Amino acid sequence: MSAPNKSYDPVEVEALKPEEIERMRDEALAAVAAAADLDALREVKAAHAGDRSPLALANREIGALPPHAKAEAGKRMGMARGAVNKAFAARQAELEAERDARVLVEEAVDVTLPYDRTPAGARHPITTLCERIEDVFVAMGYEVAEGPEVETEWFNFDALNIAQDHPARAMQDTLFVQAPGKKAKEAESGVVLRTHTSPVQVRTMLDREPPVYVICPGRVYRMDELDATHTPVFTQVELLAIDEGLTMADLKGTIEHMVRSLFGEGLTTRLRPNYFPFTEPSAELDMQCYVCRGESAGNPDRPCRTCSSEGWIELGGCGMVNPRVLTAAGIDPEKYSGFAFGFGIERLLMFRHNVEDMRDMVEGDVRFTRPFGMEI
Ligand code: PHE
Repeated sequence: MSAPNKSYDPVEVEALKPEEIERMRDEALAAVAAAADLDALREVKAAHAGDRSPLALANREIGALPPHAKAEAGKRMGMARGAVNKAFAARQAELEAERDARVLVEEAVDVTLPYDRTPAGARHPITTLCERIEDVFVAMGYEVAEGPEVETEWFNFDALNIAQDHPARAMQDTLFVQAPGKKAKEAESGVVLRTHTSPVQVRTMLDREPPVYVICPGRVYRMDELDATHTPVFTQVELLAIDEGLTMADLKGTIEHMVRSLFGEGLTTRLRPNYFPFTEPSAELDMQCYVCRGESAGNPDRPCRTCSSEGWIELGGCGMVNPRVLTAAGIDPEKYSGFAFGFGIERLLMFRHNVEDMRDMVEGDVRFTRPFGMEI
């Protein structure tokens, strides 16, 4: 800054002449008014109100004025700079308000728009029901075992004591992938699409030492037309327990626990004698109807659609593992006994969720699957 100069005493300094101050002020005001956005305004501010702006430089000259001119020049300069600063503040507020209004419009989110444009699928209820059943058994200490869907006749039939002439082997029931004796090396055993998951039990018994507690869920195949109550591809869950001293009572208690876990407390089960080559004795297992709780049986006033007023729902086949099966799988039937149970998940889903047509389960239409999607 210039210091007062005694020897030099001009009446006026060029930069502090009233017209000159006005010119600088007007130039600054015009630039402020012309600033189109906040960035431009920031630049205008540096140019017209910053340390090196014409007004600031002129202000420094006040010190060099003779004393009588200082006050007036200072006043004029102060007013000019004040006017410029005021204009800056006003323009700044204006531009900020404009920006805020614009952001509100540009960044608006329409919360009524659909949030999910890619339609989500849903897990198939057969899968979720299967997992539920697995959970019930895993909680009891069972393991989940899996095996191939394309299986040799030996595992699917022979090892399970199903005789060569058993009708289930006939071409109408079983889907053959390769007829027996076609390949020199596998002359004995044909290859089939497994008709049940029991071959997984045989594989498990061959794989591990008893005690064995496994549950075998999986897809199975039988020669059937697809209609409301049949499907050639369906899902079975079989369970197998091999230990010392197992009896039918263990089997019944285990199934009863499963039924109660899936359908609610207080339901009983019953066994009806039956025949399976791989179990002896064998039984058909029914559960009390979970809708009418057996009350519809013999009671025409209270018909029940779920169990056709039988009072019972057939679940599946079961029994004590035939000692011949144990022997075929290398387990000593004198020391160990076992029980097995097998049932179809599609049928279970039908009466548990009132699904009326089995075709809905195999068509893969997400409109069928989605309502089950929430089930964990
Ligand atoms: N594997 C039999 C079937 O598919 C079901 C079953 C399993 C029966 C275990 C008895 C014991 O029909």
